[in-house]
Amino acid sequence: MRHHPSYLLGVALLFMGAIFLLNPQPTQANPDLLGSRLLTESPSKRGRMARGGQLYDNWAVTLGKSLPSKEHPAYPKLGQKTGGETWRCSTCHGWDYRGAEGINKKGAADYTGIIGLEQMRGVAQKKIIQIIRNPIHQFSQATLPDDAVADLALFVSEGQMDMSALSEPNTQKAQGESQGGALFFHTICVRCHGVDGRHINLSQEKDNPLFLGAIAKRNPWKSMHKIRNGQPGTIMISFITLLNEADQMNILSYVQTLPEK
Ligand code: HEC
Ligand code: HEC
Repeated sequence: MRHHPSYLLGVALLFMGAIFLLNPQPTQANPDLLGSRLLTESPSKRGRMARGGQLYDNWAVTLGKSLPSKEHPAYPKLGQKTGGETWRCSTCHGWDYRGAEGINKKGAADYTGIIGLEQMRGVAQKKIIQIIRNPIHQFSQATLPDDAVADLALFVSEGQMDMSALSEPNTQKAQGESQGGALFFHTICVRCHGVDGRHINLSQEKDNPLFLGAIAKRNPWKSMHKIRNGQPGTIMISFITLLNEADQMNILSYVQTLPEK
């Protein structure tokens, strides 16, 4: 049996219509719905950056090792830290990444005269790797493997927050909105730290407990570093991908309102 040509044309048109309906144009993601937490880097890059931050805090604990027992040869005599502590990047370069220009300024307890790393933001990671491996630093392959040095360089170049305006100079009061921070604290941090931040004792001494409220008031820069990057060797994760800088600041402000004892 032969079909009329116009009948075949109709079938063909119907077919094309069906294909068109089944393959609509790909929808564009709505940037408003994605908001400010959209990551332009790959998640693994952000993960490495947070790991770099933990290594900056305490590379030994992060790598499951112990800090060397002897003092670091580049740690100046006038410094008050001793032993393994003198090997942490955070000890020499500061929790605000500003060395002698920042909280470790002349007259402060942790003054060493060593420069900070804030001026290294945006510098090529290759250059930072060379500096970490220079003879002054004494970081051998056996102490700090290449992947750790690479993650540190990524943190130094791209993971440092500008800490210069974190808190009021005299009161150390964080510059966020504690009301906004409370929302996050009571849905996230509460699970481990408890409603008043007293569930985990952050002191090494059992009889002399130290709680989140006291810690965040005493050293807001250090607390911010840990909120962003996580606490080395513990279950506390990095919040760098989950919370933007404003949220992190708000949480810090709220944490400072928690009871100290
Ligand atoms: C014992 C103290 C000490 C420790 C620990 C230390 N540094 Fe340094 N670092 C220094 C000194 C001193 C300098 C300046 C040396 C110089 O004159 O070039 C420096 C310089 C740097 C610089 C170059 C800064 C600039 O602007 O020139 C970088 C980057 C750096 N350190 C990264 C690190 C990292 C990452 C760690 C941890 C893995 C670390 N440092 C641990 C003492 C230390
Ligand atoms: C999954 C559990 C968990 C969550 C969630 C969590 N933490 Fe922690 N946090 C810990 C643990 C465990 C420690 C380390 C205790 C230690 O070192 O003895 C810690 C340490 C800290 C420290 C470091 C204190 C110091 O030693 O200087 C700060 C600051 C902190 N947490 C704040 C927060 C904030 C703010 C949140 C919410 C954004 C949060 N944590 C969420 C478990 C958690």
